[in-house]
Amino acid sequence: MKILSQRTAADLIPANATLDDLRRIAAGCKACDLWKRGTQTVFGEGSPHAEVLLVGEKPGDKEDLKGHPFVGPAGALLDKALVAAGIDRSKVYVTNVVKHFKWEPRGSRRIHKKPNIREITACRPWLDAEIRLVKPRAIVLLGATAAQALFGSKFRVTQERGKPIDSGLAELVFATVHPSSILRAPDDESRHLEMQRFTDDLKAVAAALRRRKAA
Ligand code: URA
Ligand code: SF4
Repeated sequence: MKILSQRTAADLIPANATLDDLRRIAAGCKACDLWKRGTQTVFGEGSPHAEVLLVGEKPGDKEDLKGHPFVGPAGALLDKALVAAGIDRSKVYVTNVVKHFKWEPRGSRRIHKKPNIREITACRPWLDAEIRLVKPRAIVLLGATAAQALFGSKFRVTQERGKPIDSGLAELVFATVHPSSILRAPDDESRHLEMQRFTDDLKAVAAALRRRKAA
């Protein structure tokens, strides 16, 4: 059987690259076709030695235009939940499994689309390099795309959310929902409830970090 090798971003990553090097090189990445559709690469951002690294799915419409992760409506919600959970934004690094916006036109709007396995595989070396360089104590996977990219398609966020996941990725790894799922809640009451649960999941991360420090 012929095994087709897939192009990934790995070829672009030099051995001793710094985060700034990576960001510069990723700006010209063409390892999958998404660069053709997106305005620019949206690389991760935040403290280079963040205690907590958060991983989303892919940049959205606002992120694509501004060039920064989580600066749209989902980002505003994430910021709010981090404050409520007592996680200092300055100690966080925020990134995505895929670094280009994936969308299709609907009228004058750009409707976001989920990245497929090929795009996730192509982009993954950027995330691995970010984790290697930032060396966070805790990694928080936001939503099924991020969690399944790291733990496989059988991983269920609904079952695993809010509790530590055993993995070699970092001292503590947690999965929770994606903040945009809260924005899609059908009414105010469920939105409020979902926000509360999301904040509780982030509080569980903060508490686990504190417990580890005290031990
Ligand atoms: N949704 C994501 O998954 N990532 C962003 O950066 C913004 C919205
Ligand atoms: Fe490269 Fe990732 Fe953009 Fe694809 S999505 S072109 S792999 S940076």
